[in-house]
Amino acid sequence: MDVGKALLCSLHSLKLSPANLALLHSQNQFFWRSQKKPISWSVMCGLMLFALGLISLFTGHVASDLDWYSHRLIMTRIFYSRLKGGRHAPIDIWKSRSSKFYYGCSNKGPHFTSAVRERSSNGYLLIATSGGLNQQRTGITDAVVVARILNATLVIPQLDHRSFWKDDSDFENIFDVDWFISSLAKDVTIVKRISDKVMRLMEKPPYTMRVPRKSTPEYYLDMVLPILKRRHAVQLTKFDYRLANNLDDELQKLRCRVNYHALRFTKPIQDLGQTLVMRMRNMTNRFIAVHLRFEPDMLAFSGCYYGGGDKERAELAKIRRQWPTLPVRNYPSFMSLIS
Ligand SMILES: *[C@@H]1O[C@H](CO)[C@@H](O)[C@H](O)[C@H]1NC(C)=O
Ligand SMILES: *[C@@H]1O[C@H](CO)[C@@H](O)[C@H](O)[C@H]1NC(C)=O
Repeated sequence: MDVGKALLCSLHSLKLSPANLALLHSQNQFFWRSQKKPISWSVMCGLMLFALGLISLFTGHVASDLDWYSHRLIMTRIFYSRLKGGRHAPIDIWKSRSSKFYYGCSNKGPHFTSAVRERSSNGYLLIATSGGLNQQRTGITDAVVVARILNATLVIPQLDHRSFWKDDSDFENIFDVDWFISSLAKDVTIVKRISDKVMRLMEKPPYTMRVPRKSTPEYYLDMVLPILKRRHAVQLTKFDYRLANNLDDELQKLRCRVNYHALRFTKPIQDLGQTLVMRMRNMTNRFIAVHLRFEPDMLAFSGCYYGGGDKERAELAKIRRQWPTLPVRNYPSFMSLIS
């Protein structure tokens, strides 16, 4: 083994964890035994030091180059934004050189067929969402896509009134329901409720079931569609994250149409939001958005103790007892682990 090879070998093994050093050690022993030409440890150490030196030389160089480039980039930006008239110059992405490559991705493709009408659909899909508003919004988005997969008529989803917030708002209090129905009319037929006439024709109340998390379209076709056809109405409960993430492009685009176009807040909520924005703009023009999510259920699920003494322990234990799978006792807190 010549010096070049030895250097290469030590460079390869030099990931500098104890395991790697041990590996290096055993490789040397193997070499020593097979070729009966011992290389002394001092030579090996010398080589390793040399290799380390080389590595630190290179990485040091790379790091300082990166520093230099990022510094230059920032300075250039500051310089140009000053030229353009100060701190307010916005970057207009639509006028950038790359803008010709941007396109809206939620429009349906030419082969996406129109929604089946209520009378020829496979039945009614009722949805009970679950969780906080954001989670429910995801549920609503998925509900539309599931209705599409099943050729079902979607009934406006029921919001969760029992989750942590105990908010008794209904869909129409939060979202513009007529806009929701009309803007998705070509994709999925949506109704506010099942008419009394149809209800009377049904022999049994809607079949209620819960599907596993992240179910695939095939699952819905195999397990839900037959029941839907037989019973004419199926209610899916606790509908949060019940549809797989990975769907074909057209269904993903439908998700975007629901989330970014069809779900619009009602006028009172939009007005309130606008007022808040105006008030904030009147105060200052720099804000930081923080989502602390420091609420009892989150604290319970974290399993940690946050230093609030016996009172905290008792209160957290009480919350944790609501979930049979949660241990009531605290794990050591993160802070006590690192300090
Ligand atoms: C839904 O309807 C389309 C035609 O509009 C048809 O091609 C598809 O097979 C139907 N799917 C189901 C599950 O009924
Ligand atoms: C913002 O300030 C302007 C005048 O400074 C005032 O007329 C307006 O009512 C304020 N808006 C809000 C929402 O506070």
